Amino acid sequence: MSIRTVGVLGTGVIGASWTGLFLAHGLKVIVSDPAPGAERQLSDYLHSIWPTLEKQKRSSHAALTNYRFVGASFKDHFADVDFVQENAPERPELKTKLFAELDAATRPDVIIASSSSGIPSSHFISQCAVNPTRVLIGHPFNPPHLMPLVEVVPHPTTATSVTEAAKSFYKSLGRTPVHIRQELPGFAANRLQIAVLNEAYSLVSRGIISAEDLDTCVTNSLGPRWAATGPLLSNTMGGGGGIDGFKHALEHFGPAYRVWLDDMKAHAFTWTPENVDALSSSVAEELRGKDAKDLERKRDDMLVKILSLRE
Ligand SMILES: NC(=O)c1ccc[n+]([C@@H]2O[C@H](COP(=O)([O-])OP(=O)(O)OC[C@H]3O[C@@H](n4cnc5c(N)ncnc54)[C@H](O)[C@@H]3O)[C@@H](O)[C@H]2O)c1
Repeated sequence: MSIRTVGVLGTGVIGASWTGLFLAHGLKVIVSDPAPGAERQLSDYLHSIWPTLEKQKRSSHAALTNYRFVGASFKDHFADVDFVQENAPERPELKTKLFAELDAATRPDVIIASSSSGIPSSHFISQCAVNPTRVLIGHPFNPPHLMPLVEVVPHPTTATSVTEAAKSFYKSLGRTPVHIRQELPGFAANRLQIAVLNEAYSLVSRGIISAEDLDTCVTNSLGPRWAATGPLLSNTMGGGGGIDGFKHALEHFGPAYRVWLDDMKAHAFTWTPENVDALSSSVAEELRGKDAKDLERKRDDMLVKILSLRE
């Protein structure tokens, strides 16, 4: 079935960005969010990202205004949508209620994808009375209008055809879907991210490195290298490359890696309110004198350049 109209539920950070991407690809979007002021915020955000979207490949039918904001009343409007992207807050009980309503409000063959960062969809389909086999996770990275990755995570009874159709749809939007074969909290990319972040929190909160230098470490080493070859191929090249490179790296560096890992476990960041406060103050120091909106614009410009190089 061809997808012409997308339903977007929730227009915060992620839903607004998805909306921009759908519009840039010539789709019509029906947008729902109950918050006062959400319509104005969405419009402002879409205007702010449209110049960036215009620089990317997009449809000749792309139109910034091809959406209808319906407030909280998606139930009265989603009978017309061909795909749903849900972006409500990350609360399982709220998602359970919303998925029951989405399941009832849409045609039974319409795919309903959740942007959830880490809650498997089997945790919120229990009240879907019509067709839970068309529900899955379509987890983007922020901001979805720029970041290519979408983790497609079916639950155990999601139809295989639904997983394949969701992957095709995301590909048609220039995204790079990956199939996560088994449900687990945090899926794959966020689990990798939190492993690195937890060590970053430890290093900064223990005063071993400033927040600014920590970010500099990543933007000047792991960031560009992993953007080129990902961690495992980078590891392989560190072991001399070739078919034996990876095994050689593990044999060569393995003993040292294990010492570092033991030390990291012994000094893991502990999530006390005091530690969170101290860490937040260090990061606030890095932000001093910088304008958050300006940083976001610069991030977007750089992402466009990096991603165009990868193409
Ligand atoms: N922020 C991120 O970096 C990120 C990245 C990937 C995925 N996600 C996921 O995307 C989803 C949304 O996250 P976010 O960061 O955009 O949150 P957000 O708080 O910025 O936005 C949530 C939006 O949902 C709206 N909302 C509240 N109750 C609602 C309801 N009953 N029905 C519809 N909308 C409702 C709010 O008004 C708000 O606009 C979450 O599941 C989150 O895990 C977030």
